[in-house]
Amino acid sequence: MDHSKLILKPGLEGIPVTQSSICDIDGKKGKLLYRGYEIGELAQKSSFLETAFLLIWGELPSSSELRDFEAEVQMHRRLSFRVRDMMKCFPESGHPMDALQSSAASLGLFYSRRAIDDPKYVYNAVIRLIAKIPTMIAAFQLIRKGHDPIQPRDDLTYSANFLYMLTEKEQDPLAAKVFDKCLILHAEHSLNASTFSARVTASTLTDPYAVVASAVGTLAGPLHGGANEDVIAMLESINKPENVSSFIENSLRDKRKIMGFGHREYRVKDPRAIILQQLAEELFDRFGKDEMYDVAKRLEKEAIPKLGAKGIYPNVDFYSGLVYRKLGIPRDLFTPIFAISRVAGWLAHWREQLGANRIFRPSQIYTGSEPRKWTPLEQR
Ligand code: ACO
Repeated sequence: MDHSKLILKPGLEGIPVTQSSICDIDGKKGKLLYRGYEIGELAQKSSFLETAFLLIWGELPSSSELRDFEAEVQMHRRLSFRVRDMMKCFPESGHPMDALQSSAASLGLFYSRRAIDDPKYVYNAVIRLIAKIPTMIAAFQLIRKGHDPIQPRDDLTYSANFLYMLTEKEQDPLAAKVFDKCLILHAEHSLNASTFSARVTASTLTDPYAVVASAVGTLAGPLHGGANEDVIAMLESINKPENVSSFIENSLRDKRKIMGFGHREYRVKDPRAIILQQLAEELFDRFGKDEMYDVAKRLEKEAIPKLGAKGIYPNVDFYSGLVYRKLGIPRDLFTPIFAISRVAGWLAHWREQLGANRIFRPSQIYTGSEPRKWTPLEQR
């Protein structure tokens, strides 16, 4: 192949690889829209299931469509006993993202009719994935504590039920409300690595469980889903607001990134960080302050004058870890929770990819050896 005309773009930065009508980001103005609706308005007025419907089917549901969608999701929350038994064989020390990836992929075995051009099959797959992923995460959390997973409760909303299954007790309605808003905020963000992975997998016309499993595997990496865990570790290492100035000074001197700051798309404070900070404050007002919040606020105040000129501001991960921590969620479940939410975006992209499919097959610039002769083993 003639490589002379190929220009390498590592990470495909700035290269459009598809058209999409799902999500729009204006990084200079700090705007994020799902299907044309501003994220702030959705977080205030919508629910996660309604937002998921909007993302996946393209329009806000009518009240009967929403009722049916919620009822179907509720009906499919339970896991087959075989999935639960399989999960009981996972090592307790394993990462919950690995448990989730394996469990999500296993759904392809149980619902193996690969009929992606049948609208009923597509609808059922969407329902099952949205319904069962939270149950899988809660089940793994209980199994690794040595408990049996508990059954979902039909009288609880999607988010209240997840917190109940995870913690084995019904939580304050404010906790469920805040958690639901977190799910809305993380549901979609255009062609990030896991969504791209979902689209590449979708383009082979495989089943949707494989699409979601590949996206979960991609989200698991520390450069993508894991930064909010690192933010908490960083805040704990700073320990007190008085230590913030020297932390910033040392980080910048040693060229270490401040976790939860900076974003490839945003040049201002991430609109989701603004909402998450308000949600964190609502939780602190009701349930008591997290001392790490004072460290975070001081860090934001002192880092912006130093990094703002480069367009580096708090991103979605800066306050989300503090919210999850206040909800009593263990740190290694932060990324699986991201997956509960982002499955809506992945499924929207799955459907969009199928609507105008062309299998992904980029090119490469070969840097290996010229053609050469085989050397017999005894001469090497
Ligand atoms: N702290 C200090 N300086 C930073 C930070 C940061 N968090 N982020 C970027 N910078 C600086 C860089 O050092 C660089 O400075 P220079 O021009 O003097 O060399 C400049 O800002 C541009 O940085 P890039 O790394 O080129 O920015 P890019 O857009 O490629 O990176 C990224 C974005 C990867 C998110 C980066 O900001 C980062 O690593 N942040 C910390 C990790 C984090 O919070 N990740 C979560 C992102 S949100 C998400 O994925 C859901």
